[in-house]
Amino acid sequence: MTDPKQSVRAQAAPQTFHVKSFGCQMNVYDGERMAEMLGARGMTAAADGVDADLVVLNTCHIREKAVDRVYSDIGRLRRDDGSRPMIAVAGCVAQAEGAEITRRTKAVDIVVGPQAYHRLPGLIEDALAGRAAVDTDMPLISKFDALPARGRQARSSAFLTVQEGCDKFCTYCVVPYTRGAEVSRPWADVVNEARALVDAGVREITLLGQNVNAWTGVDEKGRTQGLDGLIRTLDALSGLARIRYTTSHPNDMTEGLIRAHADVAKLMPYLHLPVQSGSDRILKAMNRSHTRDSYLRLLERVRAARPDIALSGDFIVGFPGESDAEFEETLSLVREVSYAAAFSFKYSPRPGTPAADMDGQVAAQVMDERLQRLQAAIGDGQYAFNQATVGKRMIILLERNGRHPGQLIGKSPWLQSVFVEAGDAARIGDMIEVDIVSAGPNSLGGALTARQAA
Ligand code: 5AD
Ligand code: SF4
Repeated sequence: MTDPKQSVRAQAAPQTFHVKSFGCQMNVYDGERMAEMLGARGMTAAADGVDADLVVLNTCHIREKAVDRVYSDIGRLRRDDGSRPMIAVAGCVAQAEGAEITRRTKAVDIVVGPQAYHRLPGLIEDALAGRAAVDTDMPLISKFDALPARGRQARSSAFLTVQEGCDKFCTYCVVPYTRGAEVSRPWADVVNEARALVDAGVREITLLGQNVNAWTGVDEKGRTQGLDGLIRTLDALSGLARIRYTTSHPNDMTEGLIRAHADVAKLMPYLHLPVQSGSDRILKAMNRSHTRDSYLRLLERVRAARPDIALSGDFIVGFPGESDAEFEETLSLVREVSYAAAFSFKYSPRPGTPAADMDGQVAAQVMDERLQRLQAAIGDGQYAFNQATVGKRMIILLERNGRHPGQLIGKSPWLQSVFVEAGDAARIGDMIEVDIVSAGPNSLGGALTARQAA
């Protein structure tokens, strides 16, 4: 990394900003809220980091590589003339490392944790005045109350964080330490934000939380509701076409939520349900509190409620002590479930987590080999899932432009990307009917139906 220690930051109050988010969708959401807040204070968004007066690096601490990227990104913010923007490190690295960041590199002006970013404007003032600008509080007054209401949205699909934090303490995971305990946003706040997003033109809302299905709230009639109750209420918002939620924990998959998959038409047939390993011994060492069998039985119930549901998951290879035979159990689970998509990672020891001190840390080369085999098995399932949609007619939500004029990319109900030659017949944000004519490992090709093309 080129440490831009010698580079000089301009002293004037920043007029332009650039927010760069790493990691999970919750960070993407936080990044959008920060941008909206800075915009509401009269600052304008700059397309590129180096040109902006203020750069917010909204970081991820989940694995080592994610942390390394932050420091190399800071190095790259040095401009040709030796100057640099004001730099704020936000997100989970900020929470985990706090003032250590400003000790490690003088180029960082502000450190702000994920529960404190509504205070960014005050921290900018502090930095300009030469005061320490480090805020990793987890204040009792929610940041959500201090942020400006949601306004015009650039996208047809939006994230909405409804729950934060985690009480599960999986032994490998840093989230309970960086994001704190499980907290649900109040019913009215969530419903109002959803309404504001729909009024701003959003057609699809993805409800977010580290344990989104642990969300609970009290509705306007005083009844305690779970995520399924919230989904049923959002279902009644006219203008909203699609509802999704992520990420769920198997233990919080209630009967009510499973039933919602059977009878809420706007709830998309997709479930991201991380399992992490197919070996009961490893699941126990991970403190996952479900077994391979209880997970499989849960999936059976979900599939009974919604037979066409697409399943997705997260996997870790090389957890301390994982033997070849235990890894084979993960492979066999992947083949048994046949996921429509899944994320897989090499175990990365996180400072302060129990697994980091466990015996039997697995060699990097063994992890590489296991990851390759696992990803090949996941890829096979994904390709098969995509191929099974060829010949189907479906509605897709158009999200962005393709590579050449007239080509648009939309999402299927099963979260697949669908490329379609729409010409002038459709625009981003439209829901259009297509016939699936081809399938690749990562996307589908669609053709407008005769009705749509006319
Ligand atoms: N090492 C590797 N992967 C991890 N994950 C969480 N912590 C670690 C870690 N220490 C993965 C899990 C989780 C996803 C968000 O990241 O699979 O579900
Ligand atoms: Fe981390 Fe486990 Fe909580 Fe997921 S459930 S955020 S993996 S501790």
